[in-house]
Amino acid sequence: MELIDGKATAATIKAEIKQEVDNIVAQGGKRPHLAAILVGHDGGSETYVKNKVLACEACGFESTLIRFEDDITEEELLACVAKLNNDDDVDGFIVQLPLPKHINEQRVIEAIDYRKDVDGFHPINVGRMAIGLPCFISATPLGILTLLQRYNIPTSGQKCVILGRSNIVGKPMAQLMMQKQYGDATVTVCHSRSKTLKEECQKADIVIAAIGKPNFVTADMVKEGATVIDVGTTRVPDATRKSGFRLNGDVKFDEVAPKCRYITPVPGGVGPMTICMLMLNTLAAGKKEFYK
Ligand code: GUN
Repeated sequence: MELIDGKATAATIKAEIKQEVDNIVAQGGKRPHLAAILVGHDGGSETYVKNKVLACEACGFESTLIRFEDDITEEELLACVAKLNNDDDVDGFIVQLPLPKHINEQRVIEAIDYRKDVDGFHPINVGRMAIGLPCFISATPLGILTLLQRYNIPTSGQKCVILGRSNIVGKPMAQLMMQKQYGDATVTVCHSRSKTLKEECQKADIVIAAIGKPNFVTADMVKEGATVIDVGTTRVPDATRKSGFRLNGDVKFDEVAPKCRYITPVPGGVGPMTICMLMLNTLAAGKKEFYK
């Protein structure tokens, strides 16, 4: 069994990005600039956004954090999105999700200029990704693909089972794993209603768990020698921690790991890669790599 070290891989990639940014700036080019909109005080979102700002510093990017209280109206938020769309200094921006219930999340996502949509959530980017055109790809699936590539884990022709069908992870992951230019795998997507979920997992060379149920994947569900990618990050109360909680993956790590060829830990697996891929998308935005 080999542990897939997302933290170390992300650090390596961020150093590569920093090097490229230094070169761009040395040649008189513009430093990439990421803006983030954070609404309210959700603990998870606060942490994610803080880490995104820190990652920007590590990569040599400029960053701007725009905060609103959770009583902001949809109109006010849309006005802020429009302002960032028209701000030539901002190369890319994100609106941290989830948003308060009174705001239509999809309307906000669709208001973002797709050329600045470094989250890859806009339907234009989602559609382009689905047919293999250059675009911003959602950070978590891109991070998983990158881990598989950097660890030389074969995917072509392999059987890959994805647990979960969210717009952010499950759906784009399935699209990428099936495409010839990315995973080139045979893909099965299972979800909370799948009758044969366990049997599908048992046949998989690669299991990608993104259902948000702690310890859902148990040893009896995994084939000997499989690769298991754990996307779960559920906060569970833990009195021994200063924060009062710990992150729990979707995989029962202690019993699954001994059967695996490769496995990602939680934390330190997929999580650090997600933010790192947002940085890679921001670099691409700064370079106008996909769109003029
Ligand atoms: N909330 C959870 N993950 C993400 C993400 O990747 N981007 C944004 N904007 N919000 C999130």
